[in-house]
Amino acid sequence: MTDTLSRRTFIGAGAAALAGSVLPGQAGALESPAIVLRGAARPTAISSANSLAPVSRALELVLQGSDTLDAAVEGVKIQELDPKDNSVGYGGLPNEDGVVQLDASCVHGPTRRAGAVGSLEGIKTPSEVAKLVLKYTNHIMLVGEGAKKFALSYGFQDEDLLTPESRQLWLTWRANRGGSDDWLDVPDKTPMVVRPTGTINLNVVNAAGDLSSVTTTSGLAWKINGRVGDSPIVGAGQYTDNDVGSAGSTGRGESNIMVCGGFLTVEHMRRGMSPTDACLETLRRVMAMTPPRLLREDGRPAFSLQFYALNKKGEYGAASFFRARYAVHDGSGASFKDCAVLYPPK
Ligand code: GLY
Repeated sequence: MTDTLSRRTFIGAGAAALAGSVLPGQAGALESPAIVLRGAARPTAISSANSLAPVSRALELVLQGSDTLDAAVEGVKIQELDPKDNSVGYGGLPNEDGVVQLDASCVHGPTRRAGAVGSLEGIKTPSEVAKLVLKYTNHIMLVGEGAKKFALSYGFQDEDLLTPESRQLWLTWRANRGGSDDWLDVPDKTPMVVRPTGTINLNVVNAAGDLSSVTTTSGLAWKINGRVGDSPIVGAGQYTDNDVGSAGSTGRGESNIMVCGGFLTVEHMRRGMSPTDACLETLRRVMAMTPPRLLREDGRPAFSLQFYALNKKGEYGAASFFRARYAVHDGSGASFKDCAVLYPPK
C-alpha cells in the first residue's frame, strides 16, 4: 500500500521493474510513487458485473501511480457506500435476524500480505478494515466484535447499515418464508425463492506487473447469524500471487470454499492456463465437489458461481456456470464482457 511502503520495501518491490518515466512533479515522492511503469504489463482492473464504476476508479488510480491495493479498495468502496447496491456494505441484505454482517479480504501482491474481516457489523466499508488488518497487525483475519472494536479504534463510525429498502426486503422475506410460523404472509408479494449472494471481487495489475485483489460482501441474504462465506477467506474469495496473478469469486460461497477457488485459479494460471481457462477449470472442480442436493434435475448446479482472473501481464478472463457478465477496464475504457460459461443455454 502506498502509505505503508518503506523506502526499502518500495525499492525492493518496484525498482526492478522500473522501465518508464516519472510523472511531472512527482519525482522522489516515495509516499506516493506516481511512476508510470512501462513494459511489464497492461494496467487492468477486472471485477464482477456490479463494478463498472469501481474498475474505472481503480484503473484511474493505478495510472496515476497509486499502489494496486489502495486502488482496488478505493474502487470497491464506491459500491460499499452506495445504498442502492444491496450486495455489499451499506444497504447490503441482512442475516435472518435483520442484522447486516459484512465480510471482506484482500491480498497485496508486492508485499505478500493479507487482511480480512468476517461478520463485521455497523461499518460501511469492510474492505478498508481488511486493509488495516493487513497493514497494522500481525494477523490476517479479525471477526465479529473484535473486528468492530478494531475498526472503531481507527475512527470508523458505528452506523445502521440497513436502508429502508433493505429492511423492507428482509421484512418481506421474514413474512413469507414459511407457512408454519407465526408471521402472516405479506399479500401480493412473491416469496423470495432465490437467495441473493451478491459480492464484489476486484483484481488489479499495474504496469510493473504488481497485483492486488479484494473481495467484499454482505454475504448470503437471510443467512444464519454468524455465517461467514468465502469472501473473507484468503485463498477462496480472492487470492494474489505477485509472480502469477490474481483471482476471486462471487456467488455461492460454500461451494467456493470447498475448492479454495481463488488460490486454485491462480495455480491453474501458474501452470500455464489462460485466465479464462483457469476460471473454467475451477468451476469444473466445484462441480466435482458438489453434492446431489445442490444439483437440479438435469444435473446442472442449482446455484450460481463466477470466477474472475487476471495475470501478471494484464490478460484477464472470467467464467460462470450460466450466462453472466463482468466488468473490466484495460485502458481502453470500462466495459462489460460476457463470462465464459460451463453450461450454455440448452
Ligand atoms: N460469495 C459470497 C458469499 O457466499 O458470502
